Amino acid sequence: MSKTIVLGSDHGGLNLKKVFVKALEEWGYSVEDEGPDCFDSCDYPLFAAKVVDKVKADDGKLGVLICGTGQGMTMTANRMGVRAALCTNEFLAEMAREHNDARILCLGERVTGQGLALAILKTFLETEFGGDRHQRRIDLIDTVAK
Ligand code: RB5
Repeated sequence: MSKTIVLGSDHGGLNLKKVFVKALEEWGYSVEDEGPDCFDSCDYPLFAAKVVDKVKADDGKLGVLICGTGQGMTMTANRMGVRAALCTNEFLAEMAREHNDARILCLGERVTGQGLALAILKTFLETEFGGDRHQRRIDLIDTVAK
């Protein structure tokens, strides 16, 4: 299980990011907060890129990206070449890790309430990748995308 979690948001995800930082610290994780730290309107790809760069550079890190819907963060991270999953319930979070080895959890603050979001986060962090046939399938993502 990764103990270092890299987080980023835009203005639309900042409240939930603050809740996550507090919870992660209480749960014993190291937190790297890539911003923003104020509610001024900002552009989600710029913060997604900071998190993706750190997650791609270190296998031991997982990431969390939060915007209003989660959509823009998910699109940016996947386009940058890291498996990122937009999750709206715990089952999706579990499968994103166990079957897809997602490295980044994406959420929409305007979509998912804080209690459910925390449960999704906990499930994502505590679920291990299943390997085996799932490794073959995620390898095939890169093969077919060429
Ligand atoms: C910002 O208004 C909003 O577009 C952004 O947070 C996100 O939902 C984009 O996907």
